Amino acid sequence: MGRHLDLRQAFAHHPERLSQLSQQAPYVFADLSKNLWQPQTEQLLADLAHSCGVTEQRDAMLSGAPINASEQRAVMHWLLRTPQDGGLLQDHPVVQQWGGGMVQALAQVHQTLEAMLDLAEQVRADARITDVVNIGIGGSHLGPEVVVQALEDWVDAGTQFHFVSNVDGHELGHVLRRVRPESTLFLIASKSFTTAETMLNAHSARAWFLAHGGSADADAACSIDRHFVALTTNVQAAAEFGISRTLGFWDWVGGRFSLWSAIGLPIAMAIGAAQFRQLLQGAHAMDAHFFSAAPAVNLPMRLGLLDVWNRDFLGFGSRCIAPYSHGLRRLTAYLQQLEMESNGKRITRDGQVLEVPTAPVVWGEPGTNGQHAFFQMLHQGQDTIPVEFIALRDGGKYLGAHHQSLVINAIAQAQALMLGRQGEGAERDCPGNRPSTFLLLQALDPASLGALIALYEHRVFVAGAVWGINSFDQWGVELGKKLAQELRARQQSDDWAEVDPSTLALMQRLAESPTH
Ligand code: F6P
Repeated sequence: MGRHLDLRQAFAHHPERLSQLSQQAPYVFADLSKNLWQPQTEQLLADLAHSCGVTEQRDAMLSGAPINASEQRAVMHWLLRTPQDGGLLQDHPVVQQWGGGMVQALAQVHQTLEAMLDLAEQVRADARITDVVNIGIGGSHLGPEVVVQALEDWVDAGTQFHFVSNVDGHELGHVLRRVRPESTLFLIASKSFTTAETMLNAHSARAWFLAHGGSADADAACSIDRHFVALTTNVQAAAEFGISRTLGFWDWVGGRFSLWSAIGLPIAMAIGAAQFRQLLQGAHAMDAHFFSAAPAVNLPMRLGLLDVWNRDFLGFGSRCIAPYSHGLRRLTAYLQQLEMESNGKRITRDGQVLEVPTAPVVWGEPGTNGQHAFFQMLHQGQDTIPVEFIALRDGGKYLGAHHQSLVINAIAQAQALMLGRQGEGAERDCPGNRPSTFLLLQALDPASLGALIALYEHRVFVAGAVWGINSFDQWGVELGKKLAQELRARQQSDDWAEVDPSTLALMQRLAESPTH
């Protein structure tokens, strides 16, 4: 078991290995058989999950209990994709016990969804709008960006979608150079409507709009009212900013889980209401699978436990994500927030310091590009790094012949990592026995993408539940924000008392004239 397991031997001696360690879940086929574990390992991990109460924690999430205890919030992003009648979950025993509050929350979800989809369709029908600029960061940016890019074959070619997140003025500046106020719609996406980067970008976008012919007068043809929409839970702050059109959502939607909420407006504008519903439907199918399937055939559970196995028992400090899909080129960035902001924690829900490592470093690039960059290290480096291949059976609409080459490369890389190469001289030999997981989708369509993202969300939850951490807060992010504010204040008052020498020297260099 574990690092001493030889995958080649394991396949040779156990013909049933593949069937035991692979699974078709809604929209996603997963081959877990090339990992350094055995079916018995899975059973032991299932016992661990049982003793950690993972199923109970999952059911608590479905009941709407405030499982994000440090913020006293429920965690209900899955409700955003639940049909009004409960859909595939309607017979679930936990759903059967939903009280009035949950039923009301679901009704509000659908009311807001309809309003959002109406607005999306209005904008799609308005030929005057040629550019949509989404200003947001973290969860208010990565989800919409990854989905709009992934589903570009569904995106109306008449409208350009721009995603601005960084406070570096070059990002917004480059977009503003290419758009005109009268044909641009700005979406200010921020759950809190206080995030410093988003607020600075939003103020700069408004100043640019007013300086280039836009008007603060609501009756003007090119007004802030018509050209700015806020997506936020903080309706009051949006109004104070001067935006009257706001789509709201709820504190029980975590930022990194919010693409299904009003934060998904750019997605709905890009692909249209019917396809947005497909995205929700695919995610709902995965939700129903996660909330209902027995642990042994529950793909998010199996993957979450595999993650714990790789991290804690085998000591793998990172996981490489290799989407063999140009459309999924930003998936790794999205997963970095999802996994590392959720599970990059060291204190349990009971306030104890964990004795085992948690979230691995998640990194990667789309294939085949990665093959010509870091795959050398994956094959022959000193470290063993589990690789996650994500591939599609159907290639979409462009240059179909390329697709066979793409997906076969993914399969061949997984095979090469496992088999290695021996007997061709020390420099050419590859040790092999390097673990990988292979996820295969039928196509990069809205429903499959929805299911894939929901699969990752639930898998992260499972690993967090085993570790006993709260996967839904992010207090570590606050510290840097606070210190940046303090440095700005010190810069203005020129007060450097008790600042450490290194920080002080860097701040002083900012003030000096350039030395080069
Ligand atoms: O990175 C911290 C964080 O709070 C994320 O969780 C969130 O997605 C992001 O900032 C943006 O927050 P907001 O949507 O409130 O602007």
